[in-house]
Amino acid sequence: MCGIVGYVGPREATEVLIEGLRRLEYRGYDSAGVAVMNGTGVQVRKAVGRLSALEKVLSSNGIHGGVGIGHTRWATHGVPNEVNSHPHVSYDGKVSIIHNGIIENYRELKRELAEQGVKFKSDTDTEVVAHLLAKAFDGGLLTTLSKVVKRLRGAYALAVCHSDQPDRIVATRMGSPLVIGIGEGENFIASDVPAVLKYTRQIVFLEEGCLAQVTRDGVELFDADLKPLSFTPTTTSLTLDAAEKEGYEHFMLKEIHEQPHALAETIRGRIDGDHVDLSELELDAESLKGVKRIAILACGTSLYSGMVGKYLLERFTRIPTETWSASEFRYADPVIDPGMLVIAVSQSGETADTLEALRIVKEGGARTIAICNVMGSSIPRMVDATLYTRAGPEIGVASTKAYTTQLAGFVLLAVGIGRMVDKTDEATEKTIVEGLRQMPGQVKALLDEDIVAVKRCAKRYKDVFNFMYIGRHFNYPTAMEGALKLKEISYIHAEGYAGGEMKHGPLALVEGTFPTIAIAPAGRTREKLISNVQEIKARKGVVVMLSTHGDEEARELADYLIEIPACEEELSPILAVIPLQLLAYYTATQLGRDVDKPRNLAKSVTVE
Ligand code: AGP
Repeated sequence: MCGIVGYVGPREATEVLIEGLRRLEYRGYDSAGVAVMNGTGVQVRKAVGRLSALEKVLSSNGIHGGVGIGHTRWATHGVPNEVNSHPHVSYDGKVSIIHNGIIENYRELKRELAEQGVKFKSDTDTEVVAHLLAKAFDGGLLTTLSKVVKRLRGAYALAVCHSDQPDRIVATRMGSPLVIGIGEGENFIASDVPAVLKYTRQIVFLEEGCLAQVTRDGVELFDADLKPLSFTPTTTSLTLDAAEKEGYEHFMLKEIHEQPHALAETIRGRIDGDHVDLSELELDAESLKGVKRIAILACGTSLYSGMVGKYLLERFTRIPTETWSASEFRYADPVIDPGMLVIAVSQSGETADTLEALRIVKEGGARTIAICNVMGSSIPRMVDATLYTRAGPEIGVASTKAYTTQLAGFVLLAVGIGRMVDKTDEATEKTIVEGLRQMPGQVKALLDEDIVAVKRCAKRYKDVFNFMYIGRHFNYPTAMEGALKLKEISYIHAEGYAGGEMKHGPLALVEGTFPTIAIAPAGRTREKLISNVQEIKARKGVVVMLSTHGDEEARELADYLIEIPACEEELSPILAVIPLQLLAYYTATQLGRDVDKPRNLAKSVTVE
């Protein structure tokens, strides 16, 4: 997600834009730019890197004017560089535009414009819209924008200026947020409230598909057919800090609740009807048929998504797959051969151990893919292809939305490659694609339930010293990830274990105050997990059961019952981890921990 700001009024626009972008850096910060109208056309300044780089450019090469738009970028199409940063300008130099979201059909629109002779400077989807607006300009920016957006598919929040109408900004949204700030003789637009709080608390939230025309003296809102809309601003009481967290107490909780959107964005454009569409990776079916083994390299939470990825890849591609802790792989004298496909998984793209392990496999001639959340980071720059998760910046040290979007990435990869190597049939693909399409909604439903059992369990067991998490098959990694979440933010020791291993030792730990989280959604290993739970109960152990809605046997056995919606077994780790994230969060907050910045940890472990 990116940050958008616009201003029309008596102040120096660049000052307001920079202040607003600074408040939105948590939305993205790989590059930034501003465009200002000053009666002699539009002037643009951009810079790669944090906002301070743009401020430096403006300090030596400033632009003056009272109408402008600004953008801080979280790249989704086109690596972070100056050319790809926003604002983008049309071929005639008259339209400047900033965008938050993804235009799914930009490739076909780009081809159409190129055939008309339009020359493109960037690799972005946004630039396409700038040229479409220039082509369609009918003397009115508002009417022009309303026509052009009807050709767009995907998610967008757009703010546009035109040098023939230098007194206004026109904006619209579909699937990405946009707010209007109402001032005294000045008005603002932004992707989020924090950007305008310094100047006004009078806020209008633009509705889906609607358009806004903002001038110094007024704000007009219209529906998609340009029918004028009446509106009443609300007075926001959010503090700046609360607004950055959108009212959540911590970034971690905000990011847990962002997962439906993050999943929808990660899936967007990668399922087409009943099929997986991995065309962006430009994989070659014949060379994939030559792959003899797959190795997944990662650390921490990314390692646990890689463990789920192993099961998925072996299920759908029938290619032997191993998952390695990157820090172990490096020193294991690994066997690497050209017939190997390596998948590196990393939220940050900068984890030192994963980077070094990747360097080793590349020296050995293996083909490489990454699943990563940060476009242009080190790992994507090393591999042959990257499947980007589109979770947006993850601020909380404890990884949440990156994990579930990595899982979605593995489902796409496993089924997509499975189809390419003729090991997954169309019926299976259709079933999984339909289940994946339901995931954002099911995660939202789960979060909306505000699971009471999780909060009660957190309150009851916040003072214990040990938790055991058990799961099997696809949800054995879920047990590992659930235990890590609890450990890293509550500081309570927790172990993840394969359920079948309990009787080989850990069962000795079980007694009355020792809680076990049993992850037993519907699936081929559910019965076995239920047996594990019965063994624990027989020894007076406490069991928190995580099961599929309607599982009466689980209800009878559980001391605390947490239920998740029914879904395909292969997708259950996406749903099962949500209550475990919340359990860790509520336990840690009950203990007064620094949830977003837990002790001893860093968000990205760039040292060995
Ligand atoms: C997980 O909550 C931790 N933040 C940590 O284990 C993290 O997953 C690990 O350091 C890997 O980071 P990466 O995904 O950025 O490579």
